[in-house]
Amino acid sequence: MEPGMEWIKIAPWDISCEGAEEETRDYRESVFSQGNGYLGMRGYRPDEASPNQAHRTTFYSGFYEYIRPGITDLVNQPDCSYTEIGLCGKPARELRVREAKQSLSMKTGEASWRYVLEDGEGNQTRVEAFRFASMDNRRLIALRYRITPLNYEGTLELTTGVDGGVENLPISDNQMQGNTEFVKFWTEHAFLPRTDGGVLSAKTRYSKRETAAGWRVYASGAATEQKPYAEGEKYATKLAASLKQGQTWQVDKLCAVACWRDGEDPAAQVKRLLDENEADYDALLRKNAAVWEAVWRTADIRLDAEDELQGAVRYNIYQLIASAPHGDEHASIGARGLMHGRYKGCYFWDTEVFMLPFFRDTLPATAKSLLLYRYNTLEDAKESARRFSVKGARYSWMSSDTGFEQCETWDTGCCEIHITADIAYAVGKYALLSGDKEFLDEFGAKILVETARYWFDRFSYCKEEDLYHLLFVKGPDEYCGVTSDNLYTVRLAKHNIALALEVLDRLKQEQNGSYEALALRTGLQNEEPDAWRDLMQKTVEIYDEDRGLWVQDATFEHLEPLDIPSVRSGCKPLYYTLNFDRLQRYRVLKQPDVLMLMALLPEEFSRAEIEVAWNYYEPITLHDSTLSFGMHALVAARLNKQAEAKEYFEKAVYMDLKDVMQNTAREGIHTAALGAAWQALVYGFCGLSAEPGEPRCNPKLPKEIRSAAFTVFRNGGWYDVTVDREGSCSVSKIEEIDDKRVFLRKV
Ligand code: BGC
Repeated sequence: MEPGMEWIKIAPWDISCEGAEEETRDYRESVFSQGNGYLGMRGYRPDEASPNQAHRTTFYSGFYEYIRPGITDLVNQPDCSYTEIGLCGKPARELRVREAKQSLSMKTGEASWRYVLEDGEGNQTRVEAFRFASMDNRRLIALRYRITPLNYEGTLELTTGVDGGVENLPISDNQMQGNTEFVKFWTEHAFLPRTDGGVLSAKTRYSKRETAAGWRVYASGAATEQKPYAEGEKYATKLAASLKQGQTWQVDKLCAVACWRDGEDPAAQVKRLLDENEADYDALLRKNAAVWEAVWRTADIRLDAEDELQGAVRYNIYQLIASAPHGDEHASIGARGLMHGRYKGCYFWDTEVFMLPFFRDTLPATAKSLLLYRYNTLEDAKESARRFSVKGARYSWMSSDTGFEQCETWDTGCCEIHITADIAYAVGKYALLSGDKEFLDEFGAKILVETARYWFDRFSYCKEEDLYHLLFVKGPDEYCGVTSDNLYTVRLAKHNIALALEVLDRLKQEQNGSYEALALRTGLQNEEPDAWRDLMQKTVEIYDEDRGLWVQDATFEHLEPLDIPSVRSGCKPLYYTLNFDRLQRYRVLKQPDVLMLMALLPEEFSRAEIEVAWNYYEPITLHDSTLSFGMHALVAARLNKQAEAKEYFEKAVYMDLKDVMQNTAREGIHTAALGAAWQALVYGFCGLSAEPGEPRCNPKLPKEIRSAAFTVFRNGGWYDVTVDREGSCSVSKIEEIDDKRVFLRKV
């Protein structure tokens, strides 16, 4: 871990820090991000000036717009937090900020900023600001300002509303390429003012997708004058009050948002939301807290451990929940959630492989909606396969509101095809562990058949050898170049086919017409299942008997060895100092590949094989992806390598809180790492088995964790599980949880 990043204080239920220096601002804004799954906001102080119009971001799940033909960006929405303070005629933004403290509660999602402003004459003003995105009604945001002149009296002003002049800064998926090209999406602004608020609507420039954001203010503690205010694309209410020394002026602001994805006339929806909800911050906070309490009932992990670790685990869970589009079947979770525009807000295998296990086991309705996003983009995946001249369905490496490829880096976009099998893997595991047969038969089966068909066509049959090779492929280790017979992809593809065959066999046996219906829906030919079975017997997997080693791919061992310590120190990715192309010819891994496979399908390998793979690959893995640490922790914990497991787990669990990769400021929160840390803890240290039925654990807790208690969903039922350092595990079935309680309500 890099020194100097210890200044975020992590308590069991909140994080906080002191200071408001410019140098730490991007970092603080990333780490203190807030969200409710419908929307996410970076942790910027509402009244702070920003360096540019793309800096303060509010993203809505699934709201994309084209930046060039076929390529979308997640759209930065009008900024509901826009606020300016004036103290006796002076703009507060020009004054000195002292005693600044910022915090975020994981229990309620509420953020706070407390500081003192001081002008040149020594006049001091205490400012306290609070904000949350409601979990009760996920289209509401509430803000509260409390302003107190500490040693003077005078007229104070607060201008607050919506800034519709925000911009985007689309960031390329080439990790080395920065971007300075600002994109302005919003046009056709229309504003409906009121004395205590207003509603702003606007449309995107190309697709004319509409958004609306409105607010109402309510002041107390002093007689207040208020009037509408507009400047450029900023629309606001200007409030003013004369305050005595020590008198506190409080302004509550309720914001409501809606967009084309919510149906007709977003502006009318916003107006209705504002009419139906009072701008009473305390009441809104209570309702929001009640929903969070219900969420935490199944999502929490209670540790008997140091407060810092407990808080970090909860922080990871909080950010996962804040990023997930609960119940929205047309959106998924981006690699930086709703907290940053990196990767144009796109969805990767990160969701299905790294994050989904958390939702599957603790908030299964959300897991189901995430998988339905893939079902709903299956037709796009079929069309993508057709464009690649292959049969079946090919999921894109990066996708957004459609399933079409958003990756602009040719080798990754064309060859990192394992995502199709990763999605099938997630479908299979969700169905197996949740017991949701209805989902499998209605939606999952079609995904499995279409993707199995893709794999059969994507392999190349070599008649002379009577073998099927997987050519022109890139495994999870993106430093392997473009290669052949990548073991991870081959095994996952076979797993995908096996899942399809299993479902087909079962439906056939059920003899209730569902097999025929599925065959009709997928155009299944009689000979297809047998052809798939043939492929399963004849793929190429490289295993070195002498070493007992599973080899990553056909070219891996021809790559040039690299003396890693001579080229790098610390955790900063090597692609910053060595050209990506050069890196791909060294025998080093960006992230686990064979070990990743062993993490996902441990039952397919002996312990000795996993041990050999660890000893071979781990020393040459650079962990240049944030997905790497958590998976190494999981495998190390299963191998009982306590020291390594602990070291990797700490990197995963403190990834953003301690800026392990030195890119949290620039890139936002790494959502896959959040999920990987959760898996390392629950499936690694706590030793939960991924089997249907009552949960079983084989705990191997590190000495830092005396016990861990969590809740798991299995086969339609809920279980409370407690494990401890001594290796004991107690499981009790619980009756009263209704998973649909929270997220299936319409927003
Ligand atoms: C990793 C991928 C990952 C992507 C998005 C890349 O750096 O190599 O595995 O899916 O980031 O998180």
